[in-house]
Parts: sequence; structure tokens; C-alpha cells
Amino acid sequence: MPTSFEPATNPGLFDAVVNLCKRRGFVFPSAEIYGGIRSTYDYGPLGALMLRNVREAWWRAMIQERDDVVPIDAAILTNPKVWEASGHLATFTDPLVDCRNCKERWRADQIEDACPNCGSKDLTEARPFNLMFKTYVGPVEGDSSVAYLRPETAQGMFVNFLNVLTTTRRRPPFGIAQLGRAFRNEITPGNFVFRTREFELMELEFFVPPADSPRWHQYWCDERLAWYTRYGITSEKLRLRPHEKEELSHYSAGTTDVEFFFPWGWGELEGIANRTDFDLRAHQESSGTSLEYFDQAAGESYLPHVVEPAAGATRAMMAFLLAAYDEDEIGGERRAVLRLHPRLAPYQVAVLPLSKKETLAPLSRDVLHRLQRYFMCEFDETQSIGRRYRRQDEIGTPYCVTIDFESLEDQQVTVRDRDSTEQTRLPIEDLVPHLLGRFDI
Ligand code: GAP
Repeated sequence: MPTSFEPATNPGLFDAVVNLCKRRGFVFPSAEIYGGIRSTYDYGPLGALMLRNVREAWWRAMIQERDDVVPIDAAILTNPKVWEASGHLATFTDPLVDCRNCKERWRADQIEDACPNCGSKDLTEARPFNLMFKTYVGPVEGDSSVAYLRPETAQGMFVNFLNVLTTTRRRPPFGIAQLGRAFRNEITPGNFVFRTREFELMELEFFVPPADSPRWHQYWCDERLAWYTRYGITSEKLRLRPHEKEELSHYSAGTTDVEFFFPWGWGELEGIANRTDFDLRAHQESSGTSLEYFDQAAGESYLPHVVEPAAGATRAMMAFLLAAYDEDEIGGERRAVLRLHPRLAPYQVAVLPLSKKETLAPLSRDVLHRLQRYFMCEFDETQSIGRRYRRQDEIGTPYCVTIDFESLEDQQVTVRDRDSTEQTRLPIEDLVPHLLGRFDI
């Protein structure tokens, strides 16, 4: 399906969020002092914290809160036979066209019949371009030392299927989950961190008896949609979209995307694929090792089918930021606020002594240390309290704790809520349970 990659429906929102990310330290262009490298980004202090929280939220839902999924952490570089067997060497391609006039290259399925750069219609025929990054393992560069940076984490789970099965004594239905970096030499990366050449994947391979795969596919579509609403994206900005037959990846018998309404229109957040036994069968044939599961109750062996929810962590972070960005007016003053879910916000609590005076320092530090055991906290004693609240609103900190001179007398502090701006005075002793109660969502 051809898609336009220019922000169209709300470019103002896109610009505001990209600008905020740079200005406040969520995302920087990579190696900026050397002029950067196209569509490659570094995650700054706030971005690193938030990306960690996105991973953590996924881990919590997919592993911690379940008893049928186990994690692994496989190598990025692996035996190239894995990519041969999985079909990635032969078919993990995008259709590439060259503009004969300006020499730009494009993905044929993303442009009409003219070059978006110069308008020329003098384009080459589309040819397959393999997206895997090639490298060499060891000091000798040659055919025998070729390796690839993984374009998906999934294969690490398929080739470890037997290891996990025997060491954890699982039986289908059960899942293996993994998150980590993936690399694709995208022809046209763009739209900030939406499509980059290095990104982070969060994938689950859920192994089921073959006849059960349609039911589990529907189950995972519902679960994954619910995960995005649980973490703050409203349901009208989300939809499930089944793939057309011609869109399907080489391994898929059916895929449904979770889509988000990005500022330029609907875009994929996650694909939930029914990979059947494609991968286990391919690795079984290629390696000569049986990957069948012996079902003792039925007295038969079979290759499980796989339902795979595969999400991009970096793309999800961008969607959470776009969905959370808001502007409103407080006391006649305009403010930008990120209404992030408390578990996704880079900092959960900001500790703000009302004044920099030495007398407040010991108590303020004491409050900070109490909170740091439970929450990621920022400590800020510069500028007026109003400006400090605005700075925290803009980066999504859900709670600010203010220590004032009265606190020295009554051992109480003020908790300010980011969204309502409501302030509550409470004893320092009650602070941790009070805040923990608000995070239990
Ligand atoms: N193992 C299946 C798989 O990798 P995919 O649909 O190619 O499926 C899964 O990728 C998710 O990874 C996508 O839904 C998207 O969120 C994210 N993703 C894919 N390519 C990306 C890129 N170049 N930059 C950022 N995120 C990407």
C-alpha cells in the first residue's frame, strides 16, 4: 500500500514534538558535531529514560504479568545460515528504483510514477534490494566470514526453541519474548524515529498447536491493542488493520497491524503475524535437527505454529510522545504539557525545594533520597517555582514535590499533580505510599 511520508494532517504537532525532543534532550541527531548521519538518532538523558520505560512496560505485560512466556537475549551476530534458512537472504527485500535524472533512489511502493525529488518520470524498473547490513566476523574479509546484523530478533527465538523447551519444561501454548536492537538498511528512512536504520524491536514468538493459531492470533491482536490504551493512547487514535494478501511478509499466513494516527495519517506500530510453522520447519530442514514437540497426552509429535506480535520500541515511544503532547492555559499562561502515563514519563517525581537557601537543603535531600528508592527523580532548585513546574510539565513529570520553610516545622510537603495542577499537602512519612498508590495502574 503506497503511503505518503510527509506530515500532512497535523504537521504542527509533529514539529512541536520533534522540537521538544531536541530542546529537552529526548532525541538528538547522531554525531551532530560531525554533521550527523542521515536518519540516525541518539537518545539523550530523557529519551534513554523513556525508552527504558517503554521496554519495561512491554516486559511487564508480556513476561512479568504472565506465566506462559519466558524471555531470552540472543546475539545480534549469528551464523549466516540462520538468515539463509529463514528466507531473509533471498526475500527480505524492498523494491528499489533509481531516478536516471537526479540519481536518487526510492522504494517503488512509496512513490507514484515520478521521482519525488526532481519530478522526472525516467525511473528504472524496480529491483529487489536486500535490507540486511552485511559485515565480516574476524580479521579476514571474505565469503567465509560474512555475517549480518539481525533485521529482526525473532530468529534468535526460533533457533533457541529446543533449548528453551528443554530447559524450562514448557509445552505449547507458550511464548519466548525478546527485545533489542535490529538493523535494516532502509531505502528511505524518515519521519524522525518512525523509520530508522537502527531501531529497537520488542517481539514475542508464541508457540501453539497448529489448529489453535487463528484463535491465538485474535487473542494477541486484542491484547496488544489494549497495551497501547493501557499506557495512555486513546482508542480513537488506534486501529487494527488486517494486511492485504500482497502486503504479507514471506513468512506470514496472515498479519494484522496495530496502527496509530500519526500526524501524517495512519501508520504501523506493531504487526501481529501468523507465521505458521514456517520458521521452525525451515530451521529443522536446514539444520537437520528435529524441532518437533512431542505431545505426551496425544502421543504425537508436531511442529508448533507461531503467532508473533512484533512491536518497535522506538516507534512506540514516538507514538506515546505524540499522543501525550498537549498545550493548555494555566493562570492565563500558555503551557506545553506531556500527559504521559506515569510509568512512561522519564521522571516520575521532581523534588523542588522552594528556595535554594541552605536551611532547606538537608530536608530536601532527605525527601529526595526517600523517593529515589522507588522512583526516578529529578532534583531542581533553580529558577522560580512556577517556571520549574512548567519545565516538569513539558517533559511529562507527573508529580512535583515541593519543600518549603513550613516543611521544616510540620514535616509536610506539597505534591502537585501535572494534569490537574492540584496541590495536596501531606506528611513526608506518607509520601512514598501516597505516590506508590498512584502508580499502581
Ligand atoms: N519479526 C517481525 C518483524 O520484524 P516488522 O513489521 O518488520 O516485523 C515490527 O517490524 C515493528 O518494528 C514494526 O511494526 C515497527 O514498529 C518496527 N519497525 C520496523 N522497521 C522499523 C524501522 N526501520 N524503524 C523503526 N521501527 C521499525
